[in-house]
Parts: sequence; C-alpha cells; structure tokens
Amino acid sequence: MPKTTVSIIKADVGSIPGHVKVPRILLDMAERKMLHAKESGLINSYYVFNAGDDLELLMTHSRGESNEDIHRLAWETFMECAAKAKELKLYGAGQDLLVDAFSGNVKGMGPGVAEIEFQERGSDPLIVFAADKTEPSAFNYLMYRVFADPCNTSGLVIDPRMTCGFSFEVLDAKHSRSVVLRAPEELHSLLALIGTTERYMVKRVYRNSDNEVAASLSTTKLAYIAGKYVGKDDPVCLVRAQSGFPSVGEVTSPLLHPYLVAGWMRGSHWGPFYPVALRNSQCTLFDGPPRLIGLGIQVSNGKLVEDDEGKPIVVDLFDDPAFDLARREALELAAHLRRQGIFQPARLSAEAMEYTTLPQCLKELESRFKEE
Ligand code: F6R
Ligand code: MG
Ligand code: MG
Repeated sequence: MPKTTVSIIKADVGSIPGHVKVPRILLDMAERKMLHAKESGLINSYYVFNAGDDLELLMTHSRGESNEDIHRLAWETFMECAAKAKELKLYGAGQDLLVDAFSGNVKGMGPGVAEIEFQERGSDPLIVFAADKTEPSAFNYLMYRVFADPCNTSGLVIDPRMTCGFSFEVLDAKHSRSVVLRAPEELHSLLALIGTTERYMVKRVYRNSDNEVAASLSTTKLAYIAGKYVGKDDPVCLVRAQSGFPSVGEVTSPLLHPYLVAGWMRGSHWGPFYPVALRNSQCTLFDGPPRLIGLGIQVSNGKLVEDDEGKPIVVDLFDDPAFDLARREALELAAHLRRQGIFQPARLSAEAMEYTTLPQCLKELESRFKEE
C-alpha cells in the first residue's frame, strides 16, 4: 500500500470587504480547479474552504511532501483566483503571491504549507487547523498542551502507546535554524524556546517510540520573504489523532479556554484566539479576533472519506456549544485589550513591531529629536 500524503496549502489572494473573508466566487473557482486535478488523477480528493481572508486548499494524494506537481497546482489555483480578485477589484488581490514565477515549491513564495505523509492505519482521523490574523507560533501553546501536557492529554499517562512522549522540531525564525527537543525529558528546555513566540515556532511533532509524524505546521514568515509587512502569516496545522496519538477530544480540549496570540489588527496587537464554525470564518471585529477553524476528517485509501456523492465528509469541530465558553471568554479578553487601545501590552513589543508598518511612521519623526 503506497503512503498517503495530506497537504494543506493556503494563501490570501483577495477578500471582501477589506481583509474580512474570501468570497464564494473565489472558493468556487478553486473548487473547479481542484475537481479538474482530481479527475486528471493528480490528487485523490480535496476540500476547499476559507479561514477569514485566506483561501485553503486541503488535498490528499500519493506524491509525497513538497511535490512539485502538487505545489504547482496550488500556485496556479491561487494565481487564477488572484486574477479574478483583481478583475473584481477585491481587496488585497494576490497579496500573498510574492514572486512572479513558480519555481518548484511554494515555500518561500508566499503561500503557507503543512503536509504529512504516512502509511495508513486501520482508520486515520486527522484534525486540520487554519487560522486568520495571527502567526505560526500561535500554535506553540496548543502543541505543548496536546503533545506534552499530561493534564490535557491523559493518554500521555494512561495509553501505553503514548507514554513515550513526543518530540518537537522547533524553528528559530530569526536565524533560520531548527532543533529537535524531546518531551517529557527536555520539556523545560522546550518551553524555554517555544514560550518565546516572537522567535520560535513548532514546525513538526514526532512520536518518540517510532518517530511517526504526529503534527505538521506551516512556518511561512511573509515579512522575511517580502522584506516588508504584508500581513500576518495566518498558519495551518495538521494533527493526526487516535490509536496512539492524542484523541480528537485531547486535541481540541486546550481550546476550552482562549489564549492570546499575536496578530489581529495590522498584525500589531495581542488578541484572543477565537475558535469558530466555518460559517463564522470572517474577521469582522477590529479585523479579528484572530479566528481559528478546526476541521475533523478521516483518510481512507489515499482519499478523504467521502459520502455516496463523492463529497468529503468534514466535521466542523468548533460548530459546537462546547466552545461557547471559550468564545465568551475570548470576547471578554478582547474587550479588555481593546480598552487599552494602542498602548502596550495590548499592542505588540517594539521588536515585533519592526515587522509592521510602524517603523515608517517613526522614521518621519527621527529628524525632530534633539539630544538631551
Ligand atoms: C492583518 C490584516 C489587517 C490589515 C488592516 C490594514 O493581518 O491584514 O488587519 O493590516 O486592515 O490593511 P491595509 O493597510 O491594507 O488598509
Ligand atoms: Mg488580506
Ligand atoms: Mg489572512
């Protein structure tokens, strides 16, 4: 049995109004492109959705990670949708497509990517997270709770297949290097890194007993690629669940309460991560709060499990009153932070603001300062 690859590739190609939401016309266009790719045998199945103003292409295939044909398909889909967005004068048309020509892999070209290749088990549940108005390290806390906190994931204590723990591959975005740390043995060192969300981001998680990949996250830093602020990186994340991985419920339970992530308005503020149903996948309030979509899927014989009409069966995990408390608490946190306006700590640190449009404003004041 060949291995199966799940790929999610996303980009902001234009939205309405402002940076709120991908319109249906672009989603339909992307769907047609995906259907064509499925019919031609390039991919086995797909699901198109949006996280706020980001167009998300979820695909399954048997071509492995970083495959040129799959990445080209995503790139061409984004280019076509961006052309339509330009024609309609949608906002930020083509925003995340930072280069003119495709060169083998969308990494470094603007779009975000998370991919997992694995040998299918008897049954293979996965959770797909997609966020808008935040950055990849927004998932650091979630990954820690799911894969290293036994008070969240009781399987780390109770399930003999998981007591071995998990290893985290952590990217140092500042120096473009990475390190693998093993939990629970090196938990404190791990937290010393990933607690610094401005610099370190979890890239992948592996099960210690057999090195099976358990999670994969996008780590695109648009500002580093473009050399200027072009919006936050709006990450995606794939997590394998059950039978020796954390259960679906262990993966979602850290979201019983909200936590703060960087991004929100102008990528410049702390805001509560706001788990919402797909129908609420739009960033309306102060361009946020940073929204989190969680979709439950299963993979079978290289495809997303489908109904009799060939439509993938996708469970919208946050479309559930169980997350009402998180949403209410998130709005309370949002209200506190918004009362504090542009003042720190509601606004990001000076160092993080280096990657926003603030330095342009400060530059104009430079000549007016006098020595004290
Ligand atoms: C955040 C984001 C928005 C914009 C804001 C200003 O990632 O994309 O919050 O930064 O709406 O956008 P412009 O400068 O395009 O008017
Ligand atoms: Mg946008
Ligand atoms: Mg976005």
